[in-house]
Amino acid sequence: MIRIDSVTKRYPDGTVAVDRLSLEIPDRAITVLVGPSGCGKTTTLRMINRMVEPSEGTILLDGTDIQQQPVNTLRRSMGYVIQNAGLFQHRTILDNIATVPRLLGWSKQKARGRARELMERVGLDASLARRYPYQLSGGQQQRVGVARALAADPPVLLMDEPFSAVDPVVRKGLQDELLRIQDELGKTIVFVTHDIDEAVKLGTMVAVMRTGGHLAQFAPPAELLSDPANAFVEDFLGADRGIRRLSFFPAAGLDLLTGPVVAVDATAEQIAARTTPDVPYLLVTGLDGRPLGWSEPGRLTAGNIDPERLLPCGRPFTAGTDSLRSALDCAVLSPTGWAVAVDTEGRAAGVVSQHAIGEAIRGAHADTSAAQREKAVR
Ligand SMILES: Nc1ncnc2c1ncn2[C@@H]1O[C@H](COP(=O)(O)OP(=O)(O)O)[C@@H](O)[C@H]1O
Ligand SMILES: [Mg+2]
Repeated sequence: MIRIDSVTKRYPDGTVAVDRLSLEIPDRAITVLVGPSGCGKTTTLRMINRMVEPSEGTILLDGTDIQQQPVNTLRRSMGYVIQNAGLFQHRTILDNIATVPRLLGWSKQKARGRARELMERVGLDASLARRYPYQLSGGQQQRVGVARALAADPPVLLMDEPFSAVDPVVRKGLQDELLRIQDELGKTIVFVTHDIDEAVKLGTMVAVMRTGGHLAQFAPPAELLSDPANAFVEDFLGADRGIRRLSFFPAAGLDLLTGPVVAVDATAEQIAARTTPDVPYLLVTGLDGRPLGWSEPGRLTAGNIDPERLLPCGRPFTAGTDSLRSALDCAVLSPTGWAVAVDTEGRAAGVVSQHAIGEAIRGAHADTSAAQREKAVR
């Protein structure tokens, strides 16, 4: 574990970049430092690998003061990724990734073998190996940066705004990739960003910093959204806090109704049997079980339902893996006010009303506030 203990950094010109910062950075998780430009994020990150030395306070790695370790040993245990990847322009992609293993004395062949393995891991096509950085897109370069940082398999990754310079679609891909890699490799990652949505998406723990190098709050993202510690954090989180927090509640607990669902070849008896006074519509599925659309029962032509005449059912949510936020979004966008749930194969798993989702949201809020009250009492 990395422990930052009352660390201050005062630059020679008198700027206090970080002010008595204390943080316990958990092992094998992503800790995000987030805050406006100039609040001391980069300075904090660089103190962890001693590119910047603190003016006061100590940083411990697994209980040992990092000042006690030779700086080269320390840096080898920490991969470092920066914005625009910072690749060596005169080296091929493969040799960029192989940089640290080569420095560690691996043979060229072994280092390149490892580099190829990492290209696959970060989602880069093997055909890019012989190219130079300028021949890659920004997103691809950023993947090379991540692969290079992972090359010597360091336990710690330090990432400074690694995805800030790419467009939103590519950024989302890189974020998803990082979460997937983290699931597989379980690194201790300290990730710096100024983007609160990125922080909420990636962080196991999020440290919100404010100008002057002060820590405003250190909490899991769901707790930031439910209980911002002060007006600064609340303001920094921005609008739709309540809706965004629903991403942390699974939709798995929703009671799905499987009754009001019929297949396109449903008989008049089946349609009648599936029709109940509590549900004004029936969901029609194809013979493969995939949802096709909604209809009032009286408008259905038994035995041969015309999919063209159905109300669209929009994008469904996946019952086992999506959040209450996705379920609510589906219900809000649905012309009937009912959301359609599917299984991982895309087959209809049931339907749920806006009202039932609302009840589940209230239940989830009640559970977490009870847990928080209990925590406050303890
Ligand atoms: N080498 C330096 N000398 C003097 N001031 C610096 C230096 N590096 C950063 N600063 C100042 O320290 C503060 C924090 O900077 P930085 O850690 O880069 O913030 P962030 O990464 O959050 O944008 C800023 O006011 C910045 O201008
Ligand atoms: Mg910075």
